[in-house]
Amino acid sequence: MNRRLTAALALPAALALTLTACGGGGSESEPAATGEGGIPLLEEGKLKVCTHLSYQPFQFERDGDVVGFDVDLVDLVAEELGVEQEIVNTPFETITTGAAFNTGECDLAAAGMTITEERAEVIEFSEGYFDANQAVVAKADANIADEAGLAGVPIAAQTGTTGLQYAEENLSDAEIITYEDLPLSLQALQNGDVEAVINDNGVLYDFAKENPDYAVQFDIETGEEYGIAAKKDNTALIDKVNEVVSAAKEDGTYDSIYEEWFGAAPAN
Ligand code: ARG
Repeated sequence: MNRRLTAALALPAALALTLTACGGGGSESEPAATGEGGIPLLEEGKLKVCTHLSYQPFQFERDGDVVGFDVDLVDLVAEELGVEQEIVNTPFETITTGAAFNTGECDLAAAGMTITEERAEVIEFSEGYFDANQAVVAKADANIADEAGLAGVPIAAQTGTTGLQYAEENLSDAEIITYEDLPLSLQALQNGDVEAVINDNGVLYDFAKENPDYAVQFDIETGEEYGIAAKKDNTALIDKVNEVVSAAKEDGTYDSIYEEWFGAAPAN
């Protein structure tokens, strides 16, 4: 499937706003289009979905296409609405602060994003669709057994994430260095700029599987849940997401998507 990727980053925010405002009647408060069932959408025939690349295996580029677990899950929603999913790549914080929705950049966001109270004040979350914890990855022979083992260790964390927040609150003996995205954090590890990376377990286990010189050193049980998000109070769209995801969980579609990206059926 060919999914167009809109590089939101390439447009300065002010210009993007102007374009939205003249773009065929779509002002941020009056959706220009509707999907099946009368759900309001920003643009005719499209479900515009913000994410922050790359977050493999949830969303990443492969052969010029954006693919992954979240992408497949949201495709089910797009299908139900009778439209095509269009991915918009944007900095993670424009999603968590609601800016991406408030400027009319996207209908939904799916970004391996944890539901938090603070974020839920400014964006509308679906029910949790995926369980996550934090983890720490390092060279396979690093022997970092626990948090105490990180004392004095330079560790990469991703800007605006729950992993960074955890590190700041709990790993005060480590030397925390922040990177804008996951690939830059992992590159810093491979370059030797840091000795460890903290991020969600799903992406770090995936990295270690593809890079056997590296291994997850330990997990940190944070009990997070990923949610798909929309503009605050867009309950019509979020109700639809909840309906589609729970149907997919019941009829086995969720499990087969899970198996495709994680290689095993979910434990629960
Ligand atoms: N789950 C973490 C959080 O919500 C990290 C998500 C990062 N996602 C991404 N697509 N870059 O803070």
